[in-house]
Amino acid sequence: MLKSAVITLLFISYAQAWSDWTQTADNLTVHTRTGVFKGGFNDTYPDVRHFKFVPYAKPPVGDRRWTPPERLEDSCEVYDSTVFGPVCPQYVSAVPTVWALNITGNLVVNYGESLLAGLVAQNSAEDCLTISIWTPATATAHSKLPVIHFLTGGGDVTGGINIPTQLPANWVHRTQGHIVITTNYRVNIFSYPNARGLNGSTNFAPQDQRMAVEWVHENIAGFGGDPSKITLWGQSAGSSSTDQYLFTWYKDPIIRASISSSGFAIGGRAVNDYLGTNGNFTFVAKHLGCDFEDAQLELQCMRRVPMARIENFVGQYQDNSTLVNTSQPTMAFTRNIDNKYVFTNAQYEAKYLAREIAPLPKMLGTTAREASALIPYPIHNASAGPSESLIVAQTLTTVCNAYNTSMLRNNIDLPTYRYQWAGNFTNIAPVDWLGAYHYSDLYMFFGTYLIAPGVITDLEIATSESMQDYLFNFVNDPTVGPGDGWPAYDVLNNTTGGTLARFGADGQVVQFVNGNDVEGACHIPGDVYDTTP
Ligand SMILES: *[C@@H]1O[C@H](CO)[C@@H](O)[C@H](O)[C@H]1NC(C)=O
Ligand SMILES: *[C@@H]1O[C@H](CO)[C@@H](O)[C@H](O)[C@H]1NC(C)=O
Ligand SMILES: *[C@@H]1O[C@H](CO)[C@@H](O)[C@H](O)[C@H]1NC(C)=O
Ligand SMILES: *[C@@H]1O[C@H](CO)[C@@H](O)[C@H](O)[C@H]1NC(C)=O
Ligand SMILES: *[C@@H]1O[C@H](CO)[C@@H](O)[C@H](O)[C@H]1NC(C)=O
Ligand SMILES: *[C@@H]1O[C@H](CO)[C@@H](O)[C@H](O)[C@H]1NC(C)=O
Ligand SMILES: *[C@@H]1O[C@H](CO)[C@@H](O)[C@H](O)[C@H]1NC(C)=O
Ligand SMILES: *[C@@H]1O[C@H](CO)[C@@H](O)[C@H](O)[C@H]1NC(C)=O
Ligand SMILES: *[C@@H]1O[C@H](CO)[C@@H](O)[C@H](O)[C@H]1NC(C)=O
Ligand SMILES: *[C@@H]1O[C@H](CO)[C@@H](O)[C@H](O)[C@H]1NC(C)=O
Ligand SMILES: *[C@@H]1O[C@H](CO)[C@@H](O)[C@H](O)[C@H]1NC(C)=O
Ligand SMILES: *[C@@H]1O[C@H](CO)[C@@H](O)[C@H](O)[C@H]1NC(C)=O
Repeated sequence: MLKSAVITLLFISYAQAWSDWTQTADNLTVHTRTGVFKGGFNDTYPDVRHFKFVPYAKPPVGDRRWTPPERLEDSCEVYDSTVFGPVCPQYVSAVPTVWALNITGNLVVNYGESLLAGLVAQNSAEDCLTISIWTPATATAHSKLPVIHFLTGGGDVTGGINIPTQLPANWVHRTQGHIVITTNYRVNIFSYPNARGLNGSTNFAPQDQRMAVEWVHENIAGFGGDPSKITLWGQSAGSSSTDQYLFTWYKDPIIRASISSSGFAIGGRAVNDYLGTNGNFTFVAKHLGCDFEDAQLELQCMRRVPMARIENFVGQYQDNSTLVNTSQPTMAFTRNIDNKYVFTNAQYEAKYLAREIAPLPKMLGTTAREASALIPYPIHNASAGPSESLIVAQTLTTVCNAYNTSMLRNNIDLPTYRYQWAGNFTNIAPVDWLGAYHYSDLYMFFGTYLIAPGVITDLEIATSESMQDYLFNFVNDPTVGPGDGWPAYDVLNNTTGGTLARFGADGQVVQFVNGNDVEGACHIPGDVYDTTP
């Protein structure tokens, strides 16, 4: 009796010691249904843990090229998640832009490849469907932290996880209270082939994105996340995808809030022309030795062409349209209206009215000079900058899409918050005419203005911290919103056009201004939009 009590005691204290040991020595190992992931600590922010390589779907290679993503099988495979995997197949354009020449850290890392290579991105591969996860170092399976799931931008032709200014370590370090995930998804011809042989099945990126969210929902608890507290956020193409998600998955959104930075379902780019043998896919196929009348043979043949040959042909053809022959027929592989993942503007408007949208709180953002870095600038006369009237016109398109989106949301009483990023800090906007360009708000939210070379001002630091805190507040409890004086946006208010948060303008961290001050040009006759408030 005594003997067995001693043994029991010994066993209990041994088990106790064992569980202590596993907790402290093994903070970097997380078990999930689809595998065991071994992460690392960030060297700059040792209180942040990262898992840079986490597959969320079966590799879309071989016969799975140009098919919907497939859910992973159960697995105990152990993954080294201390380094990033490749981004999805993409091309490094030879067309000179400020992105390649004058701004640093905003493009996918290709380890030494020229930023104007005119070749397939060296660090891209078809086996690319992975996410990366950043958590506080002390997070455990009991932490139940809110989760931000981020979709990178890149115009549906480029982008992915491995972009230096879109890494969230600084932000997670500051809050020690949330998890951030970023996502690789297919782009360009690998996402939107619109091939004859697919009978209208295309738009693979939105399906990738959903599968990534499903993986997170199923497995994030082990990393310290709460699956009931996911906010989907995106920028640019990732932003419009985030907004479209609310319609496609309105009956079963899984997420509880969303944030769209500079891109919306309303006003999104999409085509619905099915051209059969005159289609762009067949044009590419014919040039790559897959010249078949039969649509299935064309598709099968194209599935055997190496990824790099396809990327180089499509990319170089597209570059030639700017650099060699501006009158050749265009080529684009983009979202296709399929009444499932992508709808027309009119359909989106009808869906708002019919409430066929997930009724979740949402934050919408635009930047004051969206288009300054997006429209081509005269490369041989850089100091002049791009045409100012084009900058205003194209910026207004995005701003008015935000206005229309807010109006449609307000009409059916969906909680909506609105920000404008208007800072002009020289290390992130190193050319005078850039100002608050499309993308530059990401430096603030991610806290990566700290890695952009040049002078960093106190105002820049304070502005970034404020933007991080507001966004964190919002994802922490979307039902109360970003808080701290930031009211819900009521664009239908006939006197003010509602209230929005303006960040970084005029020497101030944040100001709450009238919606009409920003969006008045969308609906008040004679009103002029200001790109540098
Ligand atoms: C590892 O986890 C334990 C238990 O949660 C925690 O006390 C410890 O601080 C963590 N270690 C690091 C380096 O964060
Ligand atoms: C730590 O985070 C910073 C900022 O995001 C990043 O530049 C750096 O590469 C990270 N270090 C590691 C080891 O991941
Ligand atoms: C498309 O239709 C053809 C002919 O009906 C069929 O053989 C093929 O399997 C279909 N492909 C897909 C992707 O549905
Ligand atoms: C690509 O498709 C567009 C229509 O979407 C068409 O106008 C264009 O001629 C096609 N380009 C090529 C190279 O076939
Ligand atoms: C692009 O233009 C170059 C120069 O005219 C030409 O040699 C090349 O074949 C073109 N490439 C494609 C894919 O159209
Ligand atoms: C440019 O493209 C147009 C349209 O395809 C063609 O007619 C013309 O010959 C091309 N010019 C050159 C210089 O290749
Ligand atoms: C951008 O960088 C290129 C290459 O360094 C330089 O020639 C050009 O003047 C810069 N453009 C601007 C607008 O500063
Ligand atoms: C460059 O642009 C400026 C401002 O528009 C103009 O005054 C100047 O003549 C241009 N220079 C050249 C070489 O085109
Ligand atoms: C916003 O909606 C109005 C009314 O439907 C429409 O006239 C306008 O073109 C829309 N603006 C944009 C940028 O789509
Ligand atoms: C941004 O600030 C710089 C000086 O710091 C100024 O020269 C430039 O004109 C400003 N650009 C815009 C678009 O406001
Ligand atoms: C419009 O906004 C102003 C300022 O926030 C507020 O005082 C007023 O009550 C609002 N009007 C309506 C009808 O909501
Ligand atoms: C704004 O004006 C319209 C038309 O007069 C009216 O229907 C609406 O109720 C007003 N909205 C607010 C918030 O006052």
